[in-house]
Amino acid sequence: MCGIVGYVGPKSTLDVLLGGLRRLEYRGYDSAGVSIIAPGGQLETRKKAGKLDNLIAEITNHPLPIANIGIGHTRWATHGAPTDGNAHPHLGGPTSKLSLIHNGIIENFGELKAELAAIGTKFASETDSEVAAHLIAREFETTGDLPIAFANVVKRLHGAFTILVIHEDQPDVVLAARRNAPLVIGLGDGENFLGSDVAAFVEHTKRAIAVGQDEIVILRAGSVEIRTFDGTPVTPVEFTVDWDASAASKGGWSSFMAKEIADQPQAVADTLMGRLGSDGSVRLSEIDGLSAQDIKDIDRIIMVACGTASYACDVAKYAIEKYSRIPVQVELSHEFRYRDPIVTKNTLIVAVSQSGETMDTLMATRYAKEQGAKVLAICNTQGATLARESDAVIYTHAGPEVAVASTKALTAQITAGFLLALFLGAGREKVSTTELRRLGHELLKMPAHVTEVIENLDLARKLGKEMANAKSVLFLGRNVGFPIAMEGALKLKELAYIHAEGFAAGELKHGPIALIEEGQPVIVIVPSQRDEDSLHPKVISNIQEIRARGAKVIAIAEEGDNQVADYAEHVIFVPQSESMFAPILTVIPLQIFALELSTAKGLDVDQPRNLAKSVTVE
Ligand code: AGP
Repeated sequence: MCGIVGYVGPKSTLDVLLGGLRRLEYRGYDSAGVSIIAPGGQLETRKKAGKLDNLIAEITNHPLPIANIGIGHTRWATHGAPTDGNAHPHLGGPTSKLSLIHNGIIENFGELKAELAAIGTKFASETDSEVAAHLIAREFETTGDLPIAFANVVKRLHGAFTILVIHEDQPDVVLAARRNAPLVIGLGDGENFLGSDVAAFVEHTKRAIAVGQDEIVILRAGSVEIRTFDGTPVTPVEFTVDWDASAASKGGWSSFMAKEIADQPQAVADTLMGRLGSDGSVRLSEIDGLSAQDIKDIDRIIMVACGTASYACDVAKYAIEKYSRIPVQVELSHEFRYRDPIVTKNTLIVAVSQSGETMDTLMATRYAKEQGAKVLAICNTQGATLARESDAVIYTHAGPEVAVASTKALTAQITAGFLLALFLGAGREKVSTTELRRLGHELLKMPAHVTEVIENLDLARKLGKEMANAKSVLFLGRNVGFPIAMEGALKLKELAYIHAEGFAAGELKHGPIALIEEGQPVIVIVPSQRDEDSLHPKVISNIQEIRARGAKVIAIAEEGDNQVADYAEHVIFVPQSESMFAPILTVIPLQIFALELSTAKGLDVDQPRNLAKSVTVE
């Protein structure tokens, strides 16, 4: 979704704004713009449809003066096509002395626009954002106090918004407000920053404040004031960003996605760090917000998420039920929210989100809290809205995930799900301490196993390149392999724009096998054959069924599997591990397969068409 940057201080504002917008590109956008106020108070704006390079070319052709205050925006079109005129910033008032940028949707903009039109306001764009700009400019003319005028207007706006405003007559202050959309403050020495996430300013400062719901920020070079929409002062809570600018840059990799796939050993290790004792015991101090009695009282867990994050939930379900015997259901956030679900005070909601800003998941957790449930978040972004609105949060430590296609966040989410499963198991005493400790030790081995997978991806790469012309790929899996089949299909859909579908292998005979024809590529996640209750024989049978009908099978199997090679054209082996934990390994070849196939088709793996990194609208 939209990227937002604000700055006031001694640096070249344009450099700060463009640098921040560049670092926010991963959020997905289709136009960009900046406004600055030059010393002496001249407000100037440049904005263009398309990528940042178009804006930079515009500024090269029409240079901006040096300035010490400004706002910048990358827009993902909602109201109005991605054109120069609809790009942000938008100017407000008859003299256009006010400039505004906005992330979100103003749901009541129609009635507000009619109010302005009735007094003769002329509009330069089709956007809801421009309506807010004119409203604030008009209110400022009435009140003569910009923060008051700003508060008076944002209170009237319904929907989701992060809004930044600067005004030529007040050239030392950036005003900001947020409701149902992300906003963070970066604290500098004699300078201050605003961003839709910390990537906007992390190269300048790691000191940050997350702005809460219905709060206004009055930002000057030497001061930061936060108030509620009603004017009540808010005491800021500062946090330190735990990654640096290089973490949010490609660092020589061909794409952010390639870098982030390779980051996975560290992402898994960092997510385990400090939470697994050498004796295999799990310590999750972050969920102290849930008492021991709360945990004993849990009679059901509902996991809510979207997309890839929902597949992390599907994997975690197997582990949580197996080790804690607490019933778990996984729901897509947007379905859960509107189906009048049964939620009680003994329901634990586990919300999984990399960005912590996915509006569907935020709406689901807000609904559940209204029903009296406690919410535990598994989130990768410090200070994100979801983390702040939950009763407890387990942060994954995958570092910034810039590519739209989620990879390291997924393996970190799955890891966090396993930690939670072992933690709840210990609390419910359903599995012996000895067994839980053994599992803890097995989990500690996973970063090394992930490294081995990363170092042996040549075949997956080769197959991805060779299958660039595939029109359809099917994915099969059983048990914990089933969510990974779904994830493999999603990766191919979002990166290569081809038909791909994941199935439970056992479901084949109930319909999907009709899809199998000569040459149909099918990727099968094969379970370990080492367990006494292994589903390996069943999956081998499934492979035989589809090969008998012409399928070309690529198997993802465990090293030492001495049967699978007889039934598959290609076998990609992953190290032996605890069967439950295998998804952390088996998903990686599917990630690289999709990346290579997309690259072979000449597509943009980091910013696939139509997609945004964080879907902050419902
Ligand atoms: C996955 O590759 C996609 N980027 C998408 O499915 C994503 O996982 C989903 O939108 C959820 O995002 P979140 O984890 O930030 O909530």
